[in-house]
Amino acid sequence: MASNDVRVARLRAMREQSRLGGGSERIERQHRQGKLTARERLELLLDPGSFVEFDAFVLHRTAEFGLDEQRILGDGVVTGHGTIDGRLVFVFSQDFTVFGGSLSEAHAEKICKVMDLAMRTGAPIVGLNDSGGARIQEGVASLGGYAEIFLRNTLASGVVPQISLIMGPCAGGAVYSPAITDVTIMVEGTSYMFVTGPEVVRAVTHEEVDRERLGGAATHTQVSGVAHLAARDEASALDLARRLLGFLPQNNLGDPPLRPTSDPVERRDEILDRIIPDEPTRAYDMKTVIRAIVDDGEFLELQPDWAANIIVGFAHLGGRSVGVVAQQPMVLAGALDIDASDKAARFVRFCDAFNVPLVTLVDVPGFLPGVAQEHGGIIRHGAKLLYAYCEATVPKLTVITRKAYGGAYDVMSSKHIRGDVNLAWPTAEIAVMGIEGAVNIIFRDRIARAADPEAERAILVREYEERFAHPYVAAARGYVDDVIEPSETRPRLIRALEMLASKRDRNPSRKHGNIPL
Ligand code: HXC
Repeated sequence: MASNDVRVARLRAMREQSRLGGGSERIERQHRQGKLTARERLELLLDPGSFVEFDAFVLHRTAEFGLDEQRILGDGVVTGHGTIDGRLVFVFSQDFTVFGGSLSEAHAEKICKVMDLAMRTGAPIVGLNDSGGARIQEGVASLGGYAEIFLRNTLASGVVPQISLIMGPCAGGAVYSPAITDVTIMVEGTSYMFVTGPEVVRAVTHEEVDRERLGGAATHTQVSGVAHLAARDEASALDLARRLLGFLPQNNLGDPPLRPTSDPVERRDEILDRIIPDEPTRAYDMKTVIRAIVDDGEFLELQPDWAANIIVGFAHLGGRSVGVVAQQPMVLAGALDIDASDKAARFVRFCDAFNVPLVTLVDVPGFLPGVAQEHGGIIRHGAKLLYAYCEATVPKLTVITRKAYGGAYDVMSSKHIRGDVNLAWPTAEIAVMGIEGAVNIIFRDRIARAADPEAERAILVREYEERFAHPYVAAARGYVDDVIEPSETRPRLIRALEMLASKRDRNPSRKHGNIPL
């Protein structure tokens, strides 16, 4: 029988071997490509010294294709738990130095184990993906492993926050695990996501495309909307994941953490009193409005470069976490189109699932007209946003800064769909449609019959403006709770959030609704 010392020495040697993954040569290759190793990434993600590893001694079980000769401790994924800002989080980090981080049955079981623990303890899951996909030598056992992960992603959805970082290739069906999670963050230049790679694309559709254009960070954050954020390097991507979790509760039964601030509740930013241009068709930057209102001007925007006509992201107001949804008048005049509807609908549901109050800033001329939008299904997509706002039971605060026209008025967290506190700036215009369009329709005959149709139109536009292009018709009916000076917005929103802190609302009991996907 070996002595204790010998046994401990063996344990240490095995741990050391497991730490080396696929060996120093492959680690160097990883570094040469500008990529960190699985363990280096975890060190940056987690609070120093907080990582506790599981399953470092797991081995794959395949003897096929000579794999019985190449069993590597840990089997290509580092799993366990640690803390971020002192809060528990479960992690998995794929090790590209071991069979290209490919997913074997045992590798999948390790990931499933931490996902199950995350669900049992009610803690977020952060997945660091860097993998050649299914372990080819394992065949269907690997596919089964993926399916086990997809199932857990789905069952955990809306229960614990799930964040995916793409830090290398992510190919084939493997992309569907990140796609089910709440937020996907990619690294510029070194990460890719595609269902089929460039070679398959060439063979099937005869299109010539490289990895970057097919599924790089720019493609997925600007064109497809698959990823939420692109970071310039791995350290920044990991930092974004840490920051994101700071806005979220540990699970759907908790509240987001409070973040104390020295930014005064009563701060009034006078810039807001002058930001709406006199000319109604002129744009202004809604991000200036957001930063002027929220704590310390700090706003973590998601999907900033995709469907930029709508802005979504997290901020704090009086120390409380909020999800901001706002039109951007600088892009498509802030009209709601297909992508903007999808983007905002998913964000509203994300916030609602995790008890993050919604602050909606409205300046919307309506849904975007056009054949492409109608044929693309703007009805179906716009309905997603309407549905998401209708079903949301978190505190809902709305500020109409300028236009709130037509169906888009209803959609954007209006009083009628359970908006809790609805405010309007004096510059708000709440109407069925824009003034010119309205006058042209309801006074068509009168304008046509006039001696000077243009002069008549101008008179009618002015009359209509005076009667309807302001917030007081809505205020007279209680559809907005108050008309406020723009610079009052921050204190009014913070007071509303405090008032709503104990809000409880519920939807009818059912298996689940049938959101128009
Ligand atoms: C087993 C794999 C592997 C895989 C890579 N490797 N992918 N081993 N199964 N899927 C191994 C390589 O043999 C190599 O081993 C090491 O990992 C590094 O790979 P390289 O090719 O040298 O690296 P690189 O040039 O950076 O290219 C990375 C890559 C490429 C783009 C990921 O390896 C590749 O195309 N792999 C196959 C991708 C793929 O088609 N996967 C299946 C997708 S289908 P050595 O020993 O030389 O270091 C799928 C289904 C999921 O995933 C289903 C879910 C529903």
